[in-house]
Amino acid sequence: ALERALRPKLLDEYIGQARAREQLEIFIGAARKRREALDHVLLFGPPGLGKTTLSHIVAAELGVNLRQTSGPVLEKPKDLAAILTSLEKNDVLFIDEIHRLSPVVEEILYPALEDYQIDIMIGEGPAARSIKLDLQPFTLVGATTRAGMLTNPLRDRFGIIARLEFYTPEELAKIVTRSAGLLGAPIDVEGAMELARRSRGTPRIANRLLRRVRDYAEVKGDGRIVKTVADRALTMLDVDPVGFDLMDRKFLEAVVHRFDGGPVGLENVAAAIGEDAGTIEDVIEPYLIQQGYLQRTPRGRVATLAAWRHLGVTPPQRAGLVS
Ligand code: ADE
Repeated sequence: ALERALRPKLLDEYIGQARAREQLEIFIGAARKRREALDHVLLFGPPGLGKTTLSHIVAAELGVNLRQTSGPVLEKPKDLAAILTSLEKNDVLFIDEIHRLSPVVEEILYPALEDYQIDIMIGEGPAARSIKLDLQPFTLVGATTRAGMLTNPLRDRFGIIARLEFYTPEELAKIVTRSAGLLGAPIDVEGAMELARRSRGTPRIANRLLRRVRDYAEVKGDGRIVKTVADRALTMLDVDPVGFDLMDRKFLEAVVHRFDGGPVGLENVAAAIGEDAGTIEDVIEPYLIQQGYLQRTPRGRVATLAAWRHLGVTPPQRAGLVS
């Protein structure tokens, strides 16, 4: 079974993200009643929290087709025009990594979003002219890790903006239990909770770790995922007791040991650990910040007392260090 196999198909099966779910339920219901296209939806938040899954659910709940593409794939205006002109009434177009659309592609998206129209160029050179084409009404679902990276005109064209949050351990435990059921893997409450606590608040990680813990349980145990087995498997996978992985620890260690706990600029830490600054900002930092191990300040990143303690080092006595 692939990751796809574990994804919920309808809103009712979707666990967590109560705010986004409640809003979508109402707006989808209203659009359905009026037989109109749903307003354009922007989903933002760290990777793995269910943006793609939600976009599929939106289309399924609306009872329409879903077309899926991504910002970097749409290189030329005609790539987007080809998709837009092939949509049927009220279809959903999902554009992942929408912050990476090229400016020329973004340009043709505006009238499509506002008036369901596109301007396309016919011919070349002096004979070239632009004609307007009418499109079927449609819904754009855009996904991005950082809403701040969208241009203002693009962001302004989304009527529904939903921020996805990290899942609580309790929500992740439900997801893990559901997934284990679908995989036919026996798991108990404590086993699910151990996986849930150590999955960085992220269903994609929880489901990946579940498969690895199941392998471990089958080879090293009797197949049942209980707490001790989950703990041993996760330790083997370099997932530490609070769920940080090697990159999390490498990052925190750099801030603490090489930059005295900060403040340090993102680019400096990135260079120190040989990781891409964008990846650090989108993937590593959000969870560390949410968990209170890191702060973003105007002067740079600062490790909190919790980070020093987690690495087992005594923090210096110093003003401004926050627990
Ligand atoms: N699998 C991945 N994400 C999920 C979610 N939010 N609810 C249920 N199952 C999931």
